[in-house]
Order: sequence, then C-alpha cells, then structure tokens
Amino acid sequence: MTDTAALMPRRREVHPDPYFLDYKTSITRSPSLPLLSMESTPSEETGPRFGHNKLGALDNNLISNFTQGKALAVGERIRVHGRVLDETGRPVPHTLVEVWQANAGGRYRHIKDTYFAPLDPNFGGCGRTITDENGYYEFMTIRPGAYPWPNRANDWRPMHIHFSIFGHAFGQRLISQMYFQGDPLIDLCPIAATVRDRSQLDRLVAPLDMQNSRGMDYLAYKFDIVLRGRRQTMFENKPEGM
Ligand SMILES: [Fe+2]
Repeated sequence: MTDTAALMPRRREVHPDPYFLDYKTSITRSPSLPLLSMESTPSEETGPRFGHNKLGALDNNLISNFTQGKALAVGERIRVHGRVLDETGRPVPHTLVEVWQANAGGRYRHIKDTYFAPLDPNFGGCGRTITDENGYYEFMTIRPGAYPWPNRANDWRPMHIHFSIFGHAFGQRLISQMYFQGDPLIDLCPIAATVRDRSQLDRLVAPLDMQNSRGMDYLAYKFDIVLRGRRQTMFENKPEGM
C-alpha cells in the first residue's frame, strides 16, 4: 500500500512534561541533560513481528486466561474494545496490543505491590491480542479497582488499564493508560494531570458503550487508539530521536 499522507511533525506541546513536581518519581526519572537523537537500527524498524499463531485462545480474556478457563476472576465483567488508527485515521491492522491492570480490589500481581487488598487467585492481570484487518481489537476483563500509591499524602490512581501498542515495528511502541468515564479520581490524579490539555486527557477516558454491552453479562467501554502515521514515525526517528 502506498502511503501518500503528508508528514506531520509531532505536537510536543500536547505531550506530558517528563518532569512534573506533583508526580514525585518523575523528578528522578526525567532527563537532566538535553536529549540526543540516535539513528534507529534495522531491528527497530523491521522487528519484532508477531503472528496470530503465537497467541493463545484466551490471551485477550483476562477473566479466564490466568486459570486457562478453569475459574473466573472476581469483579465487574467488562468488554474493552476499539480500533488502532494511524494519524490520518486509517486502521492499523495486525498489530500487537497488550494490556495489564490491577485486580478488582486495586492490587497488582507483582512482587513490588504490597497494598493489602488481596490477590485474586483467578486473576493474572495481563492480556494481549492482535488487531484485525480493520484495526479492531477487544478484551474481556474485569473493572480494575482504584489504588493508593506513595506520592503525596493521600494519592489514588483512578481505575485504569495500561496499554502497549507496537505499531509496525519495535521503534513505534506506544504505552499509555485508559481511564473510565465518570471516575472522579481522574481529576485528582497527578499522573493524569501531566496531560495538561483537557481534550487530550479526555481521549484517554473510555466512554461507556451500552450499544456493545450485553444484558445480564457485561458493560462495554470503547477506546480508540491513534498512533502516528507510518511515514511520520520513520521521519521522526531520524531528526528527533524516538
Ligand atoms: Fe497502574
């Protein structure tokens, strides 16, 4: 397919500042020296590639993938779905979408998570899928709980699901978070506040999607993800770094 879209520079003013005082760990994580641009390598531009045969049948079902269908996770059953699109609105097919999240009580299955909400023996908290030819993806999962985190005296993360999208090559990987419509903690969260433009933050908030929910079964949330265009990403790698 020929890509004839115009090159569009990244709009850095809408991206979060890496250094944000209310988000304590951003102080040590943010660069203290000017960034250097580096040439991308062939492996960053061409690999890795994933095939459907590498995925298990339950990989996009977090309600049952941890036990391989033997038991179900505790929590509100939800369906999260949408499309991965490039900057010009075209679908990005056959791309790997990975998610990870806390359980219904707000606890991650991770050695460093010591929050006293219990682990759910039937919930792992990770899933993956590949977009179809229309860029469409879907997950079945449970609604993650909000959780407290050591930042300021009493900070809580809103309910959220972490997303990774690979695009067509490793160098295009995008990591972000999906929030839930109507969660009052979004407006109190220092991490959400790093996105200064409200319209940009709103694009991370998935609306309730009753049309695609199922009675007596699950609610649906719709979350479309817009990557940069394929040509723009390659352009960006050279003069600006990734
Ligand atoms: Fe999280």
